[in-house]
Amino acid sequence: MFYKVLPIVEKEVINNKYFIITFTNFEMAEQSCPGQFFKLKGLEQEFPILPRPFSVFKKEDSKLSFLIKVVGTATKNLSQLKIEERVALLGPLGNGFQIHNGKKVLIVSGGIGYAPLNFLRDGLNKADNEITFFHGGKNANDVFSKNIRIYTEDGSIGEKGLVTDGVEEFLSQNQIDVVYTCGPENMLRKVKEICEGFKTKLYMSMETVMACGIGSCCGCAIKVEENGKPVYKKVCKDGPVFDGYKIV
Ligand SMILES: Cc1cc2nc3c(=O)[nH]c(=O)nc-3n(C[C@H](O)[C@H](O)[C@H](O)COP(=O)(O)OP(=O)(O)OC[C@H]3O[C@@H](n4cnc5c(N)ncnc54)[C@H](O)[C@@H]3O)c2cc1C
Ligand code: FES
Repeated sequence: MFYKVLPIVEKEVINNKYFIITFTNFEMAEQSCPGQFFKLKGLEQEFPILPRPFSVFKKEDSKLSFLIKVVGTATKNLSQLKIEERVALLGPLGNGFQIHNGKKVLIVSGGIGYAPLNFLRDGLNKADNEITFFHGGKNANDVFSKNIRIYTEDGSIGEKGLVTDGVEEFLSQNQIDVVYTCGPENMLRKVKEICEGFKTKLYMSMETVMACGIGSCCGCAIKVEENGKPVYKKVCKDGPVFDGYKIV
């Protein structure tokens, strides 16, 4: 884990809700694995005081990119930064996804849950996995790639409906070994319910509200089953990726 203040080297505004910012740092990039995250805060921005967690969206040589959705003050502040303005970064943090070799894999993302799964896809490709990627959003603004199976609630792009509508059908027609997912809670609950019927492995990346991000405050605790008993785990340190079947 490193703490560094870095200038933004690239910025892409996708639409009025989403943008991508990129930094260059060899050590941070070298140590970052799919599913890990960084805490980010604009250097000159006083409020909010706590830096916010963002998953690594893309890694290319020593470049690290973050796909960010504007939801409140911190994300709005970050969206207003320009190239060369400086950001404080802490990371990489968290455990990251377990990557198996040569498996048939289904990725299911919802909304900004796409961010860690985009980086995961690169890791899975390198490990010779056969990948199918489903992504769902409310409308065309929540879609970041056209080369995957898309579902939107209003049907403005891809198929009309929820991303989980296609998952059950797909799993019943294809022998899938591992499912990776990240997205809103309702979506994760439904993915878990469906996967239980097909006995696939299931990895879920959780996006709880965080304070310290390094395991000190318990602000991100979730209930997970361990040896048949519910225990609390810290999303920032024990996660954010968990065995999906163990999350209570
Ligand atoms: C491990 C992890 C990885 C993440 N990766 C990304 C990412 O790659 N890209 C991205 O855009 N966001 C990501 N998030 C979510 C991001 O951290 C929050 O959107 C951000 O902290 C909001 O800060 P804010 O000050 O703009 O909004 P706030 O003012 O803090 O919140 C605005 C609204 O969003 C809600 N909210 C805040 N945080 C979350 C959350 N984590 N989950 C659900 N609702 C929330 C609040 O309850 C409030 O209603 C991730 C979160 C975690 C824990
Ligand atoms: S955010 Fe403090 S322990 Fe996880």
